[in-house]
Amino acid sequence: RRPSSRKGSMSDVPKDLLQQIERLEGLFTVPQEKLKAITDHFVSELAKGLSKEGGSIPMIPTWCMGIPNGHETGTFLAVDMGGTNLRVCEIVLPDAKGEFDIIQSKYRMPEELRTGTAEELWGYTADCIKQFIEYHHEDEKLDQLPMGFTFSYPVSQEYIDHGVLQRWTKGFDIDGVEGVDVVPPFEAALKERGVPIKLTALVNDTTGTLMASAYTDDTVKIGCIFGTGCNAAYVEDCGSIPKLEHMNLDPKLPMAINCEWGAFDNEHIILPRTPYDIIVDKESPRPGQQSFEKMVAGLYLGELFRLVLLDLHTNPEVQIFKGQNVDELQKMYSLDASFLSAIEVDPYENLQETADLFSSKLGIHVNKPELELCRRLAELIGTRAARLTSCGVAAICKKKGYTSCKAGADGSVFNRYPHFKARGAQALREIFDWPSDLKDPIEVIPSEDGSGVGAALIAALTLRRLKEGNH
Ligand code: GLC
Repeated sequence: RRPSSRKGSMSDVPKDLLQQIERLEGLFTVPQEKLKAITDHFVSELAKGLSKEGGSIPMIPTWCMGIPNGHETGTFLAVDMGGTNLRVCEIVLPDAKGEFDIIQSKYRMPEELRTGTAEELWGYTADCIKQFIEYHHEDEKLDQLPMGFTFSYPVSQEYIDHGVLQRWTKGFDIDGVEGVDVVPPFEAALKERGVPIKLTALVNDTTGTLMASAYTDDTVKIGCIFGTGCNAAYVEDCGSIPKLEHMNLDPKLPMAINCEWGAFDNEHIILPRTPYDIIVDKESPRPGQQSFEKMVAGLYLGELFRLVLLDLHTNPEVQIFKGQNVDELQKMYSLDASFLSAIEVDPYENLQETADLFSSKLGIHVNKPELELCRRLAELIGTRAARLTSCGVAAICKKKGYTSCKAGADGSVFNRYPHFKARGAQALREIFDWPSDLKDPIEVIPSEDGSGVGAALIAALTLRRLKEGNH
């Protein structure tokens, strides 16, 4: 790998730009001691979220009670309503332990759905499912198929097949869905279209990821999503969930917890927020919420980058992109995380690909020193995201006393953002001070299709529990 510091190549960068680079390094770098402090605060916030009084991290009991043992069987539908795509899968869990077959179709979620009406959202989702069934089961008479529905937003659940949306995250903003159970309108839309499906389990993507990973590897204790949003799930004993005490559940029963850790530090105690983070938050549809997520998730990485560049353009002391038309750069969310990824993979010699990208996407001609700055800035934003998310992983491990385990991870940032995995692993080493000759005892590994297979597994586990008579 290329070393991350290339001071040599910065030699022709003028002093004022160099000073800016140093200022940004100061703002976006999270040193080891800070990682440790964030992790410790994170541990206490996880506990607070489980308490009766509650805290800023929701720590939602999912009623997903158990880990698959690899012997689950049957045919299930899994529907994943991500932000960008709607994915419909049919999953067959055969008798052979730990195996599965999957067929799937992806449908683009039209941008307007994010801010449209609830009817449009559920109608579109049901239409896609109908299309999927008609295509794959033409002329077949179908029995009611059980469905695991991956709905990756914070929902309060009293049963596994219901969920009241606490609030939209990830830029969604549809009236009339927050505060109500999302299942009845969705089922009504399916029924209207004559689709023979029963919603068996409403699942968060992190819980699905945890289950799907644990299905094939029992050392996996955490499920994480590093994508458009960022979050994790893990398993607690009911006895360690004070806010469920009144239900008199068997204290030994396992219960997956959807942390919704994107809300970590909403009260701004510990995270090193920059002026740019503050703008991202203020200009988002939900200011004051998802503080942690807004610093680390894919939806916001490009926006942070854009805000810094715009600031340096308007700053009379530096004026990058001087005299150029920056209309495109002025558009909110005009850059996404893939723009930063592309900059970070540009072979370093002359940063030609970065230059091309700026001119094709933004109509801006970027000179050599400015290219150096953009590259460094992308590295800083991408590195900060990876390091901060490791604090969350470390916090769960510390809370549970896991000294050796794996976290299964999925999401566009984890899978596609350059160096994200290595930077996250480095941060874990710094947090735990593992001896350098030790193989990392805690690792974040790619998971097996959590929102598809995971949701199907949870539906299978739920049906088994119902059959055994435990509700
Ligand atoms: C957001 C959602 C959360 C989800 C995460 C990853 O944080 O609130 O439910 O797990 O994004 O998709």
